[in-house]
Amino acid sequence: MSKILVAYFSQSGNTARAAEAVARAVGAKTYEIEPSEKYPADYNKCIAEAKREREADARPALKSSPAEAVKEADIVFLGYPIWWYDAPMLIYSFIDACDFKGKRVIPFATSGGSGMSGSDERIAKEAGVKKETGYISRFRLNVSEIEKWAKNAVG
Ligand SMILES: Cc1cc2nc3c(=O)[nH]c(=O)nc-3n(C[C@H](O)[C@H](O)[C@H](O)COP(=O)(O)O)c2cc1C
Repeated sequence: MSKILVAYFSQSGNTARAAEAVARAVGAKTYEIEPSEKYPADYNKCIAEAKREREADARPALKSSPAEAVKEADIVFLGYPIWWYDAPMLIYSFIDACDFKGKRVIPFATSGGSGMSGSDERIAKEAGVKKETGYISRFRLNVSEIEKWAKNAVG
Protein backbone atom coordinates (compact mmCIF):
# COMPACT_ATOMS: atom_id res chain seq x y z
CA MET A 1 0.00 0.00 0.00
CA SER A 2 1.26 3.43 -0.93
CA LYS A 3 1.59 5.98 1.83
CA ILE A 4 -0.34 9.10 0.95
CA LEU A 5 -0.07 12.63 2.35
CA VAL A 6 -2.44 15.49 1.54
CA ALA A 7 -0.42 18.70 1.91
CA TYR A 8 -2.24 21.97 1.42
CA PHE A 9 -2.19 25.70 1.93
CA SER A 10 -5.46 27.56 2.40
CA GLN A 11 -5.94 31.24 3.16
CA SER A 12 -9.71 31.36 3.48
CA GLY A 13 -10.80 27.72 3.94
CA ASN A 14 -11.82 26.56 0.46
CA THR A 15 -8.71 24.52 -0.23
CA ALA A 16 -8.80 23.18 3.34
CA ARG A 17 -12.27 21.76 2.63
CA ALA A 18 -11.03 20.26 -0.64
CA ALA A 19 -8.05 18.75 1.21
CA GLU A 20 -10.33 17.17 3.82
CA ALA A 21 -12.38 15.59 1.03
CA VAL A 22 -9.27 14.22 -0.71
CA ALA A 23 -7.90 12.86 2.58
CA ARG A 24 -11.21 11.18 3.40
CA ALA A 25 -11.45 9.65 -0.07
CA VAL A 26 -8.00 8.07 -0.03
CA GLY A 27 -7.64 7.47 3.71
CA ALA A 28 -4.69 9.83 4.18
CA LYS A 29 -3.47 12.37 6.70
CA THR A 30 -3.49 16.09 5.96
CA TYR A 31 -0.54 18.41 6.41
CA GLU A 32 -1.18 22.14 6.51
CA ILE A 33 1.46 24.28 4.82
CA GLU A 34 1.69 27.54 6.77
CA PRO A 35 3.73 30.68 6.21
CA SER A 36 5.94 31.83 9.09
CA GLU A 37 4.08 35.13 8.90
CA LYS A 38 0.36 34.90 8.17
CA TYR A 39 -0.93 36.64 5.06
CA PRO A 40 -3.14 39.66 5.78
CA ALA A 41 -6.76 38.76 6.59
CA ASP A 42 -7.83 41.82 4.61
CA TYR A 43 -8.52 40.65 1.04
CA ASN A 44 -7.04 43.65 -0.75
CA LYS A 45 -3.91 43.60 1.39
CA CYS A 46 -3.52 39.89 0.75
CA ILE A 47 -3.94 40.43 -2.99
CA ALA A 48 -1.22 43.10 -2.93
CA GLU A 49 1.16 40.96 -0.87
CA ALA A 50 0.65 37.95 -3.16
CA LYS A 51 1.29 40.13 -6.20
CA ARG A 52 4.54 41.40 -4.72
CA GLU A 53 5.67 37.86 -3.97
CA ARG A 54 4.82 36.61 -7.43
CA GLU A 55 6.56 39.50 -9.19
CA ALA A 56 9.67 38.91 -7.09
CA ASP A 57 9.42 35.12 -7.58
CA ALA A 58 9.79 35.08 -3.80
CA ARG A 59 10.11 32.00 -1.60
CA PRO A 60 8.33 33.09 1.59
CA ALA A 61 9.45 31.35 4.79
CA LEU A 62 7.50 28.34 6.03
CA LYS A 63 6.33 28.12 9.65
CA SER A 64 7.92 24.69 10.00
CA SER A 65 9.84 22.23 7.87
CA PRO A 66 7.68 19.83 5.87
CA ALA A 67 10.62 17.56 4.93
CA GLU A 68 9.93 14.79 7.47
CA ALA A 69 6.20 14.53 6.74
CA VAL A 70 6.87 14.35 3.00
CA LYS A 71 9.74 11.89 3.39
CA GLU A 72 7.38 9.21 4.68
CA ALA A 73 4.94 9.50 1.77
CA ASP A 74 5.00 7.82 -1.64
CA ILE A 75 2.22 10.01 -3.01
CA VAL A 76 1.76 13.68 -2.12
CA PHE A 77 -1.47 15.44 -3.03
CA LEU A 78 -0.65 19.15 -3.09
CA GLY A 79 -3.52 21.60 -2.69
CA TYR A 80 -3.57 25.39 -2.97
CA PRO A 81 -5.69 28.36 -4.07
CA ILE A 82 -4.91 29.91 -7.43
CA TRP A 83 -3.24 33.26 -6.70
CA TRP A 84 -2.50 35.54 -9.60
CA TYR A 85 -2.84 32.74 -12.17
CA ASP A 86 -0.31 30.54 -10.41
CA ALA A 87 0.16 28.64 -7.15
CA PRO A 88 1.02 30.90 -4.18
CA MET A 89 4.79 31.33 -3.95
CA LEU A 90 4.57 29.57 -0.57
CA ILE A 91 3.87 26.35 -2.51
CA TYR A 92 7.23 26.70 -4.25
CA SER A 93 8.86 27.26 -0.85
CA PHE A 94 7.30 23.95 0.20
CA ILE A 95 8.62 22.24 -2.92
CA ASP A 96 12.11 23.66 -2.36
CA ALA A 97 12.10 22.31 1.20
CA CYS A 98 11.36 18.70 0.20
CA ASP A 99 12.87 15.89 -1.83
CA PHE A 100 10.30 14.38 -4.19
CA LYS A 101 12.58 11.83 -5.82
CA GLY A 102 10.64 8.64 -6.52
CA LYS A 103 7.35 10.17 -5.40
CA ARG A 104 4.17 11.25 -7.16
CA VAL A 105 3.01 14.82 -6.64
CA ILE A 106 -0.65 15.30 -7.56
CA PRO A 107 -1.92 18.89 -7.56
CA PHE A 108 -5.40 20.16 -6.78
CA ALA A 109 -6.49 23.76 -6.56
CA THR A 110 -9.47 26.00 -5.84
CA SER A 111 -10.09 29.27 -7.61
CA GLY A 112 -12.58 32.04 -8.25
CA GLY A 113 -12.85 30.95 -11.86
CA SER A 114 -9.34 30.50 -13.24
CA GLY A 115 -8.05 27.13 -14.37
CA MET A 116 -4.80 25.52 -13.24
CA SER A 117 -3.09 28.31 -15.16
CA GLY A 118 0.05 26.26 -15.72
CA SER A 119 0.63 25.80 -11.97
CA ASP A 120 0.42 22.02 -12.44
CA GLU A 121 3.25 22.11 -14.99
CA ARG A 122 5.35 24.44 -12.87
CA ILE A 123 4.91 22.24 -9.80
CA ALA A 124 6.01 19.14 -11.71
CA LYS A 125 9.03 21.01 -13.06
CA GLU A 126 10.09 22.49 -9.73
CA ALA A 127 9.54 19.21 -7.86
CA GLY A 128 11.37 17.27 -10.59
CA VAL A 129 8.50 14.82 -11.09
CA LYS A 130 6.22 13.73 -13.90
CA LYS A 131 3.23 16.02 -14.47
CA GLU A 132 0.01 14.55 -13.09
CA THR A 133 -3.56 15.33 -14.05
CA GLY A 134 -4.69 17.69 -11.33
CA TYR A 135 -8.10 18.81 -10.18
CA ILE A 136 -9.35 22.37 -10.30
CA SER A 137 -12.40 23.47 -8.32
CA ARG A 138 -13.75 26.71 -9.73
CA PHE A 139 -16.24 28.74 -7.67
CA ARG A 140 -17.86 26.05 -5.53
CA LEU A 141 -16.40 22.77 -4.37
CA ASN A 142 -18.10 19.63 -5.66
CA VAL A 143 -17.19 17.23 -2.85
CA SER A 144 -18.33 14.01 -4.51
CA GLU A 145 -16.51 14.93 -7.72
CA ILE A 146 -13.19 15.66 -5.99
CA GLU A 147 -13.50 12.46 -3.93
CA LYS A 148 -14.03 10.47 -7.11
CA TRP A 149 -11.07 12.16 -8.79
CA ALA A 150 -8.79 11.50 -5.79
CA LYS A 151 -9.70 7.81 -5.60
CA ASN A 152 -9.10 7.48 -9.31
CA ALA A 153 -5.75 9.26 -9.12
CA VAL A 154 -4.33 6.68 -6.74
CA GLY A 155 -6.00 3.74 -8.45
C1 LIG B 1 -4.13 36.81 -3.32
C2 LIG B 1 -5.25 36.17 -4.12
C3 LIG B 1 -5.13 36.01 -5.48
C4 LIG B 1 -6.14 35.36 -6.21
N1 LIG B 1 -5.96 35.18 -7.56
C5 LIG B 1 -6.93 34.49 -8.26
C6 LIG B 1 -6.77 34.23 -9.66
O1 LIG B 1 -5.75 34.59 -10.29
N2 LIG B 1 -7.77 33.56 -10.30
C7 LIG B 1 -8.91 33.14 -9.65
O2 LIG B 1 -9.79 32.55 -10.27
N3 LIG B 1 -9.06 33.35 -8.31
C8 LIG B 1 -8.11 34.01 -7.61
N4 LIG B 1 -8.28 34.21 -6.25
C9 LIG B 1 -9.43 33.57 -5.57
C10 LIG B 1 -9.01 32.26 -4.87
O3 LIG B 1 -8.28 31.42 -5.77
C11 LIG B 1 -10.22 31.46 -4.39
O4 LIG B 1 -11.04 32.26 -3.59
C12 LIG B 1 -9.75 30.21 -3.62
O5 LIG B 1 -10.80 29.26 -3.56
C13 LIG B 1 -9.30 30.55 -2.22
O6 LIG B 1 -8.89 29.38 -1.57
P1 LIG B 1 -8.64 29.31 0.01
O7 LIG B 1 -9.98 29.60 0.68
O8 LIG B 1 -8.19 27.92 0.26
O9 LIG B 1 -7.62 30.33 0.36
C14 LIG B 1 -7.31 34.89 -5.54
C15 LIG B 1 -7.43 35.09 -4.16
C16 LIG B 1 -6.43 35.74 -3.45
C17 LIG B 1 -6.58 35.95 -1.95
